[in-house]
Amino acid sequence: MSGARGSAAARVPVIAIDGPSGVGKGTLGRRVAAHLGFHLLDSGALYRLVALGAEARSVPLDDAEALARVAAELDVEFRLDAGEELAEPLLGGQPVGEALRSERCGEIASRIAGYAQVRTALLARQRAFRRPPGLVADGRDMGSVVFPDAELKIFLTASVEERAQRRYKQLIAKGIGASLAPLLGEIAARDKRDRERSVAPMKPASDAVVIDTTAIDIDEVFEQVMKIVSTRGISGS
Ligand code: DC
Repeated sequence: MSGARGSAAARVPVIAIDGPSGVGKGTLGRRVAAHLGFHLLDSGALYRLVALGAEARSVPLDDAEALARVAAELDVEFRLDAGEELAEPLLGGQPVGEALRSERCGEIASRIAGYAQVRTALLARQRAFRRPPGLVADGRDMGSVVFPDAELKIFLTASVEERAQRRYKQLIAKGIGASLAPLLGEIAARDKRDRERSVAPMKPASDAVVIDTTAIDIDEVFEQVMKIVSTRGISGS
């Protein structure tokens, strides 16, 4: 027991939060990270940045080797704001702007995320985010592939209708015009692709805690997660 405790104390704890798009991983991740004083990895942003980088260099979206080079050479920097909001990443020292969060960018990111070479090129970069006192990492394969030894693995789900509604409200609140039906179609198509790809498909790790958020709000999800964090005694290294 004491030996196990000794090695556990030396490890930097990771809380993995996975799930489909629009399920609230980002919001939950930011809150949990801010609460615990942990670092945050938005792994989807990395795939989106590769998409933007590939577009900027006119790399064909079916050229896996060239896309992997873009991923390996990505000059990206994440900075945290004073509060819990994640400041937008810098690509080549420049803010990337709204383009990063567009449906189009998410769609391209989802397509290139299907290439094993791209995923491998991003693996070490993602693991480098694991620094004391701890890390909250959100994505599709944080618990299953990138941090298989995470202290806690959460997999969020919600109906596609509910997720489309949430996304719709977010866009409208930002003053971005949107319609529900196409959003629903896009989210369903992206889910299917992320779930059915052969490499690192989106699925709960065998030891993940699955939380269906369809009928509960973010405050309740946060409370449930923090309860598990406290039961498992997870705190900064
Ligand atoms: O979470 P997001 O919507 O920003 O992610 C955009 C796409 O990137 C998503 O549709 C699939 C891919 N992705 C992935 O394959 N693995 C991750 N860990 C994160 C994102």
